Amino acid sequence: MAKMWAGRTDGSTNKQADDFNSSISFDKRMYKEDITGSIAHAAMLGKQGIITPAEAEEIIGGLGGILDDLDSGALEFNMEAEDVHMFVEEVLTERLGDVGKKLHTARSRNDQVALDFRMHLRGEIDAISELLRSLIAAVVDKAEEYKASIMPGYTHLQRAQPITLGHHLMAYAMMLTRDLGRLSDCRARMNYSPIGCCALAGTTYDTDRYFEASELGFDGICQNSLDGVSDRDFALELLSSISVAMMHLSRFSEEIILWSSWEFKFIELSDDFTTGSSIMPQKKNPDMAELVRGKCGRVYGDMMALFTTLKALPLAYNKDMQEDKESVFDAIDTLKSCLEIYVGMISSMKANEANMLAAARGGFINATDLADYLVKRGLPFRSAYKISGGIVADCIRSGYALDDYPLSKYKEFSELIEEDVYGEISLETCVNKRISEGGTSVASVEKQIKLVRNQLNCK
Ligand code: ARG
Repeated sequence: MAKMWAGRTDGSTNKQADDFNSSISFDKRMYKEDITGSIAHAAMLGKQGIITPAEAEEIIGGLGGILDDLDSGALEFNMEAEDVHMFVEEVLTERLGDVGKKLHTARSRNDQVALDFRMHLRGEIDAISELLRSLIAAVVDKAEEYKASIMPGYTHLQRAQPITLGHHLMAYAMMLTRDLGRLSDCRARMNYSPIGCCALAGTTYDTDRYFEASELGFDGICQNSLDGVSDRDFALELLSSISVAMMHLSRFSEEIILWSSWEFKFIELSDDFTTGSSIMPQKKNPDMAELVRGKCGRVYGDMMALFTTLKALPLAYNKDMQEDKESVFDAIDTLKSCLEIYVGMISSMKANEANMLAAARGGFINATDLADYLVKRGLPFRSAYKISGGIVADCIRSGYALDDYPLSKYKEFSELIEEDVYGEISLETCVNKRISEGGTSVASVEKQIKLVRNQLNCK
């Protein structure tokens, strides 16, 4: 088939080359943005007298018809087309004749593809943000349910200090809230219109780039035409933000997997989000969480792919840049599917409070509180730390926990220790006295919950 760009050459190419060159299989996903962008372009051409108002009307009508037909399925994509931009223009020209050929005045596919891509990603950011909001709401609800449920907090995966599951879950709510912020920052920088940059140098026509930008909901225009067609920072920023969000989900998954193991048994996932083994009848596998953890690697790959594609490209447009879309689309689709699964998985997750408490009772996680007890009775922290360490060592030797270590033995280490020590180092006290801002006490977790809920409602 002769190409629309036939002229210098006869426009016929080798079939293999055509297939290799074609991007319609993946850029058809941007057809709505392509057509909406073209409608604004035609309106601008008409307003500026570059084409007549009647021609503009006709083109806009034709484009509207194509949009409707693609939406309804009445029109199918021609997979032989070079890309979505060529496809739409070809159909327009088929339907309208010569007037259709006027649409591409004062623009190039280079600014057109940059425009479509920005508009499409902007919409995807909104969709991801909605899903993130639902997940944050689910995590916060779970945190509220378990705001007083004691579990061991870990460092180095060693039992460290008692916390609540609510507090632990709120840490993820904070991460996901920052992800939301990163997406919105990225969207703000993305929301500048490249249309009118044309091939690379601008145009001799008296265009109105601001009109097109505002018709399409942009906050402004790309101020350098070379930059406008060459820049893919916005896609890299989005890939980076998605990668950070995936990393958060992957860490969360890792804990969910650990906590579901027989060794921990802190939580139980709903049967809806686990699978059985084909051979071992006792198994209940956290496949969804494992897949999310696995997909994080895939998304990092998407991010690295585009960074690498762009790293040595000279200005302005190069066909290498057609490779920008698939990795971004894959990262978007992956994150969206992970978020969707996560909302259900978290909402239906149940904690085993007895097991969490039992784990918190072992491991001397109130040793810091014993040291703090001595500090409050006048010892410098380092001396208190040393005495508490000696007590823990003796407990391990003699098979005691700090909670049932006899007072007479405590007194051998320090005369400052009295009967009230048992109340002061109980797990409940350890948790609920941690009233510092951001700490694990129920009051503090309630404050965090309120804060995140407020942030969600303001957006
Ligand atoms: N399909 C191309 C892409 O995705 C559109 C831009 C083509 N521009 C060009 N000068 N060949 O990048």
